[in-house]
Amino acid sequence: MGPFRRLGAAGRRELLSLLGPDAVLADPALLDPYRGDFGDRSEEPPEAVVFPRTTRDVQAVLALASREGVPVTPRGAGTGKAGGCAPLHGGIVLSTSRMNGILEIHEGGARAVVEPGVVTRDLREAAEARGLFYPPDPASLDTCTLGGNAATNAGGPMALKYGVTREHVLGLEAVLPDGRILNTGRRTLKGVAGYDLTALLVGSEGTLAVLTRLVLRLRPRPRAVETALVPFATVEAAARAVPRIWTSGIQPRVLELLDGGALAAVRRRGAVPVGEGWGAVLLVETDGEPGGCREEMDRLLDRVADAVEAPRRSRDEGEREALWAVRREMSAAVKEGARGWSSEDVTVPTDRIAALCAYVGEVAGEGGLRVAIYGHAGDGNLHVNLLYDAAAGRARLRDATERIYRRTLDEGGTLTGEHGIGSTKRAWLPWEQDETALGLQRDLKRIFDPKGILNPGKVLP
Ligand code: LAC
Ligand code: ZN
Repeated sequence: MGPFRRLGAAGRRELLSLLGPDAVLADPALLDPYRGDFGDRSEEPPEAVVFPRTTRDVQAVLALASREGVPVTPRGAGTGKAGGCAPLHGGIVLSTSRMNGILEIHEGGARAVVEPGVVTRDLREAAEARGLFYPPDPASLDTCTLGGNAATNAGGPMALKYGVTREHVLGLEAVLPDGRILNTGRRTLKGVAGYDLTALLVGSEGTLAVLTRLVLRLRPRPRAVETALVPFATVEAAARAVPRIWTSGIQPRVLELLDGGALAAVRRRGAVPVGEGWGAVLLVETDGEPGGCREEMDRLLDRVADAVEAPRRSRDEGEREALWAVRREMSAAVKEGARGWSSEDVTVPTDRIAALCAYVGEVAGEGGLRVAIYGHAGDGNLHVNLLYDAAAGRARLRDATERIYRRTLDEGGTLTGEHGIGSTKRAWLPWEQDETALGLQRDLKRIFDPKGILNPGKVLP
């Protein structure tokens, strides 16, 4: 990979003539926000940010970059957690924000066709207006984009029942680094022709091609939702309740965990009342028909509820929204006041969550670190946050994080359930995948991107 060339003044002029002045940002004073996301930022800003409006614009940018050997880093809304959009080797950032059209919502065919810059909530709302439902719901759904969701194979609470983004992408149009257009997949719900290039591109974190159009699956909109907050004395007790649900015969749509550290953040924000003896909660939802999902919730709570206090059922939509507002801001809320932190998304089999939580407590205790664990317990996907308040915490954090990675893998888990490898976890990918799997992925990368210009420094070590 590399060495990479710079775009330089001539390259910038060419971009301007290809896309027009309002689609190229090259003023150094304005480039800083494009250095990365919540996971990582490049030391230097990119040389230019481009805002293509069409697939043809994307082709033109990539053809230029390919010819000149200049890196291109695709960018959605920059809400990622693993540094996926950080232009670590400089060059061009390609923002999809202006390719934001919902091109089609096909009710009878249960699909939508969208451009990559559509904000996730905008599709959700457009689908709901037609009695349909687009379930993937990353916490950032008010600002993140469908292209970014597909690039990272984003999850979210409802992935438990409906699946992650990959399960909703039927087909793609993408531009290869040399400027060719690649069409993958299908517009039908079923389809098995050829190798599954759609599945390969989804989650490839902008390293193989730039997504320019997505065919997405829509589902029927559930008519009712039931929400409950179930308190437990300890995080282990809450975690132990999770596997019991698998034998209850009920599929909750959401099964989220908040530990004591996360509840402290909820208390600080004051949006929802938190009981005295609560050491952790499960946030549970069922959906479907009004009577049916209420009955399902009753049966589910019989299985999971602990003795600490009766579960709190949301009485109305306002209360539900307040609860979810807190949950969606949790990533920022748990870090308030801390000097530094790590924020992971390790994932283990659901019967190993309690063991992992206990181990995290142990490791943090030894390192003098604070802990806040929250996340998608139903999927075994935990956002483990380790926090420190004094400068000395930094070195201990890395050691503790590595121990948690190791234990996660020993429990049969994975280092990342939804945020991706990006730049932040790249060094540890060989802990999880063997040389055969890594070598094959490197070969694939070379086939798609022989010059290595697309999002260098990500995923593969
Ligand atoms: C969440 C993000 C951090 O679940 O994935 O809040
Ligand atoms: Zn999450």
